[in-house]
Order: sequence, then structure tokens, then C-alpha cells
Amino acid sequence: MTTRDDCLRRDAADPLRRFRDRFHLPDGLVYLDGNSLGPLPRELPARLHATLAREWGEGLIRSWNDADWIGLPRRLGAAIAPLIGARPHEVIVADSTSINLYKLLLGGLALRPGRQVVLAEAGTFPTDLYMAEGAAARAAGIVVRRVESDAELLAAIDETVAVVMLTHVDFRSGRLHDMAVVTAAAHAAGALVLWDLAHSVGALPIALNEAGADLAVGCTYKYLNGGPGAPAFLYVAEALQASLPAALPGWLGHARPFDFAADYEAAPGIDRQLCGTPPVLSMAALQAALALWPEVDMAALRAKSQALTGLFIDLVEARCPGLELATPREPDRRGSQVAFRHPEGYAIVQALIGRDVIGDFRTPDLLRFGFAPLYVRYVDVWDAVERLASVLAEEAWRDPRYRARAAVT
Ligand SMILES: Cc1ncc(COP(=O)(O)O)c(C=O)c1O
Repeated sequence: MTTRDDCLRRDAADPLRRFRDRFHLPDGLVYLDGNSLGPLPRELPARLHATLAREWGEGLIRSWNDADWIGLPRRLGAAIAPLIGARPHEVIVADSTSINLYKLLLGGLALRPGRQVVLAEAGTFPTDLYMAEGAAARAAGIVVRRVESDAELLAAIDETVAVVMLTHVDFRSGRLHDMAVVTAAAHAAGALVLWDLAHSVGALPIALNEAGADLAVGCTYKYLNGGPGAPAFLYVAEALQASLPAALPGWLGHARPFDFAADYEAAPGIDRQLCGTPPVLSMAALQAALALWPEVDMAALRAKSQALTGLFIDLVEARCPGLELATPREPDRRGSQVAFRHPEGYAIVQALIGRDVIGDFRTPDLLRFGFAPLYVRYVDVWDAVERLASVLAEEAWRDPRYRARAAVT
């Protein structure tokens, strides 16, 4: 059985250990919620302040050109591209994940006329389903078909399907899809695939180009640490960029926005997926957060992620009776998060937060923990399980203050 000293030894030998200092993490806190909101990168406030003071304060409107604010969506997209296995011109940062999903889904439907189905998983993140239903309502004759399992998914991909829309890592269970296998199955049936990378970008290496993926969206406030409400990104494979229409044709997606022409003409390439003015301050924060990623060895990141999640599963199963694993046991089938079931999940998570271990709760009964390999240590895993075991043994979750539901869980 692993001891706390074993964990300290693993931390000392961790090739990623130097990255923890690049983040502000409150003293004594074990933070296992980077899969919801990443912590503040230490370099971010100074960089953001420079944007505020120099670019906005002094440069004023000149900074759209002089500081290339107008190029931020493309520059940030190019910075994210290597993390998702894409080329720089295939990614832009814009809007929210929900909005990007809507744009790409409607665009994708237009590329598959005569097909009626958007294939989705019943348990996918709800905004994906809501947006798909919204997009379907705008495109005549389209239905969203929901499947319940991986086996059902592959069997349901046929020549009626226009777009297969999937979350790469499931937000509840952490189950990881085999992107290459599903993409190949969709292409064999003539369908496009749209991947939601919200829970995989920055958590594991992603190979969109290698898999032949068509479309993807993702968010930057989780493992990329862009800050609360940071803008999202979208990916369109080069081969589709000229034909994929702009479903929300805003002025910055126009071929020549400053012609102020009365009629829309889509920009060539991925720029047509831009709608309105980019949120420069949020993008400046994200730019600062992305600065450390070129230094990260993604294979080492994946190896540590699998080791952390595996250690957590082993320790919880050994020390926390009553919790039932809801995440795939095989390391290659999960992302960087682990969920356990317990009927008192909400109160247990609150009691754990009361002991300085932050995870989160997903209805109806999931305790969910994220393990961001850049700053979570093996000893954090040990300490988290120690405190979880004590919350359960003492039934600390019975305390009424842990039972009142907050607006955000
Ligand atoms: C898988 C997934 N998709 C989409 C979203 C929603 O993203 P946004 O709020 O940026 O639209 C989330 C949010 O957590 C998510 O986990």
C-alpha cells in the first residue's frame, strides 16, 4: 500500500514538478477542480496589467493595430493548435463553447444536405444537446438522435447521419473516446465529426489532424487556466474551411470588415467563423496563461495524469467504503478526472471543501475530482483521500451546513 512518503518521493522525481510554481495556489489547499476552473497563472496579473495600462490606457484605439488586438483570435488559436494536434490556421479563439458548437454544427449540416441526423450521446454536456436541438430546429428536417452507449453509438452511424457530435472526455465519468476510431467510422458512413474538447484540452495530448477530425470546439478556463469565463476556441480542418458556411455571419467574419458593406461576404478560411468584437482583456489573460504550454512535454503530462488518477482510484477504493467508481478503470479509457458515486455526494463534497480539498459535485450523486498534472502533486492525492476517508468515517457530511445547495455545485 502506497504511503505518504512514497508520494513525496514520486513528487521529487516528477519531470513536471517545476510547473506548480507557475500558479498561485492558496496555502494548504488541495485543488482538484482544475477541470472546472484552472488556477491563476502567476505571470498573468502583470501581463494583464500591461495590456490595461499600456495598450488600453496609452494606446487607446490605436492598439487594435499597434498591439494587434484584431489578430488576437488567430494568434491565440495558433497557440492552442499544437495542444490539439492542429495546424495554426485551423484554430481561432472566439465566443463561448456553446456558441462555437452551434456555429460549427449548423455549418456542418449545410455540408451534408439530404442527411437528417445529428448523432449525440444522451449523457453529453447539456449545452451540447440544447445547442444541437436549437440548430436542428433551424435546419429543415433535422433530428438529434441520442444514443446511450459506445456500442450503440458505433451501430447508429449510418448514411442518414450528417454530423456525429461528441464530447471527447465525458464531463461526468471522465470516459475518453478513441478519436481516431470514431472519426474513421463516421467518415466511412460519409458523416462529419464535431468534437467537444472542453475536458480534454490541456489534460492529454490530442491529435485532431492525425485522426482526420473535421470540426472541434473547446474551452480555455479549465486545464488551460484562462480564467473564469475565458473565451473558447474552434477548429475547422483546412479542407473544410472554404466550404463551411458561417452560421452566425457577423461583421468580423466578413472578407473586408472595414468596407462596411451592406451585404455579407464570408472571409476566406477560418476567419468567417468570427462574429463580433473580440473580448481583448479576456484574450490578454488567456494569452498569458498559454505562455507556458510550449515548455510542456505532453507525453509526460499524460503519463502523470494517468498515474495521479490511478493512485486516487486505488487509495479511495482501499480507504473509502461506500464510494462506487464511475470512471473507467483502464487508464487509456479515461481523461484526467475521476468520479465516484455516493447518495450523499453533495454533502460529502461540501464537507471535504470544509477540510480544504476542493472537488465538485454533479447531480444526482457524483463526487468529481480533476487532476491537472501541471500543479497537482502525488502528495495532494494522498492528502485528499486522507481527508475524504475522515469525512466518511466521522459522517461529517451530516452537518446541516453542508446540505444546503448553492447555486453553483
Ligand atoms: C463538455 C462541455 N461543453 C460545453 C461546456 C459549456 O461551455 P461554455 O459555457 O463555454 O459555453 C462545458 C462547460 O463546462 C463543458 O464541460
